[in-house]
Amino acid sequence: MTIAIIGAGNVGSALGRGWLACGEEVIFGVPNPADPKYRGLPEERLRAPRDAAQGAEIIVLATPWPATETAVKGLGNLSGKIIVDCTNPLGMGPSGLELVLGHRTSAGEQVAAWAPQASVFKTLNQIGADSMDKASNFPVRPVMFVAGDDEANKPVVMSLVAKLGFEPVDAGPLRNARLLEPYGMLWIDQALNRGRGRSFAFALTDRRPGG
Ligand SMILES: NC(=O)c1ccc[n+]([C@@H]2O[C@H](COP(=O)([O-])OP(=O)(O)OC[C@H]3O[C@@H](n4cnc5c(N)ncnc54)[C@H](OP(=O)(O)O)[C@@H]3O)[C@@H](O)[C@H]2O)c1
Repeated sequence: MTIAIIGAGNVGSALGRGWLACGEEVIFGVPNPADPKYRGLPEERLRAPRDAAQGAEIIVLATPWPATETAVKGLGNLSGKIIVDCTNPLGMGPSGLELVLGHRTSAGEQVAAWAPQASVFKTLNQIGADSMDKASNFPVRPVMFVAGDDEANKPVVMSLVAKLGFEPVDAGPLRNARLLEPYGMLWIDQALNRGRGRSFAFALTDRRPGG
């Protein structure tokens, strides 16, 4: 299956590198494929966003939140497509970065409202871009939660997450993006405000049986 990554900044380029390294077919949809800033990416894989999306079964959203509505609505017919939403709906509030949608909805659900014919999943928003193609460099396999309503296609997304080296964990329905986006904020707060830096990830561990 072809993966179209919409946006090739920090997140899009890292995910692209990661999936290309494990043999996935990846194309990038960017506003101006001729822009020299994309020279680090394989030129033959750069497309206009709509062309990229129409040529793929899986569409990964790696756009800044304020650009995401226009980006999604410009991708053409998304019927039957899988959308992997990596965005965090960030904005600057009085106390610094915050979730501009609050906690009673989520970017994932908003994306689903803009693309009602697609299957939307929320994941890959819970770690820094810098680590997205380096999950195998952690001593413990980092966890990556995946939320989405389409149970038939969830294994496809879980498998793509696993190929990057993460432990994919089913986080339930897309509504639970309301949990995963604040969880992404927890990562950001640790990285930017608590001095932890960007090279950490969350992991899950179970108590020993009977322990
Ligand atoms: N950075 C992180 O560590 C991190 C981690 C997890 C999740 N996220 C989330 O992932 C998303 C992307 O973050 P980022 O750091 O990768 O941002 P970024 O470096 O600013 O990259 C954003 C990309 O989106 C492209 N873009 C903008 N409008 C577009 C449109 N209408 N159609 C297609 N592409 C468009 C930009 O292209 P141009 O530059 O050519 O405009 C750029 O390539 C954000 O929602 C962020 O919250 C970020």
